[in-house]
Amino acid sequence: MQAILVTGGCGFIGANFIRFLLEESDFTGRIVNLDKLTYAGNPLSLQDLAARFPQRYTFVKEDICNREGVARVMDAHHVDTICHFAAESHVDRSIVRPDDFIQTNIIGTYNLLQLARERQERITLFHHVSTDEVFGSLGDTGFFTENTPYQPNSPYSASKASSDHLVRAYHHTYGLPTTLSNCSNNYGPYQFPEKLIPLMILNALEGKPLPVYGDGRNVRDWLYVRDHNTAVWAIMQRGRRGETYNIGGRNEMQNLVVVHTICDLLDEIAGRLPGHQSRRELITYVKDRPGHDRRYAIDCTKVERELGWKPAESFETGIRKTIQWYLDHKDWITSVRSGDYQQWIKQHYG
Ligand code: NAD
Ligand code: TYD
Repeated sequence: MQAILVTGGCGFIGANFIRFLLEESDFTGRIVNLDKLTYAGNPLSLQDLAARFPQRYTFVKEDICNREGVARVMDAHHVDTICHFAAESHVDRSIVRPDDFIQTNIIGTYNLLQLARERQERITLFHHVSTDEVFGSLGDTGFFTENTPYQPNSPYSASKASSDHLVRAYHHTYGLPTTLSNCSNNYGPYQFPEKLIPLMILNALEGKPLPVYGDGRNVRDWLYVRDHNTAVWAIMQRGRRGETYNIGGRNEMQNLVVVHTICDLLDEIAGRLPGHQSRRELITYVKDRPGHDRRYAIDCTKVERELGWKPAESFETGIRKTIQWYLDHKDWITSVRSGDYQQWIKQHYG
């Protein structure tokens, strides 16, 4: 692995992955970050890297649905490895308007696989980043394993399931060297404030209502983003080709408990809101998401046993770091919220 094409590197997990590779890992090669810069892609998240790693980091604004454009990037930079994060990622948006999810998540992944196949003598690995949501919803007990049948319930998870199947087929049919990871819910720095944790942190900071869907008892298995990325890197380096690996934090929590934790920590760190005993008073129950999956929980024994991976953060330590990061990065938040960065993109990338 000398030249890794990271797709979606300006998004939440991809940006953290690129930072991890350049700043912390044993990787010594080059990274080409290819991102379309949708509303979720923020080049400010990596703005310092081009100057700090001029020989090793390149950003290219491109759409994975534009096969010729991606081909040019792959050839110009002699890409030998692909780590594919780019996706439309928000379930609520997929319910309202699935079009972009079908295009990017299915057609975009197909394009990348096809391009990798056409360059198979050079491509050492295609790693596909996916979600546990492809497995559907669990009842009160049980865990998703790598052998759990796919049962996606939302347009988002159905589009990711479709892309997973294409990855599997390209390995099985064409011998493309692939690995695939299905991870549980991530949280941490640089997450766009439409997802539960950053939305609740920012609303709670500002004394705005905290919209909890349904009865707030849906369960997610939370993993700190750096722990996801150390697992992805372990799989890329040592994972068996053609295999899939589940990644999770063994941190199952009801949404309401997550929101309570955020409220209590903010009261402690930032001080109470004027006129409120506790930020928990901001919680507002709202109409449930249609088809809302009840519970996700990952059995990550395989990645632990085969690759020796384990998460470094518990939910308690990870959520503290995350809250502190949002408190310390008001500029990033303002730019993301105000749309300033969309103007910045236009100025810099056309
Ligand atoms: P995100 O929405 O924060 O970022 C997605 C990035 O992809 C953005 O930078 C966006 O500009 C880019 N992108 C979108 N469409 C593109 C296109 N057509 N061409 C090029 N770039 C495009 O998403 P995220 O939360 O960082 O998720 C990254 C990956 O991890 C996704 O594949 C997602 O399914 C998967 N995943 C996410 C989670 C989670 O909790 N966030 C959990 C498991 C798996
Ligand atoms: P989300 O962060 O959208 O991730 P996903 O749907 O991919 O799991 O949502 C996490 C959980 O939080 C999910 O059960 C929906 C719930 N939720 C709320 O209750 N209120 C909100 O405002 C949001 C965005 C999510």
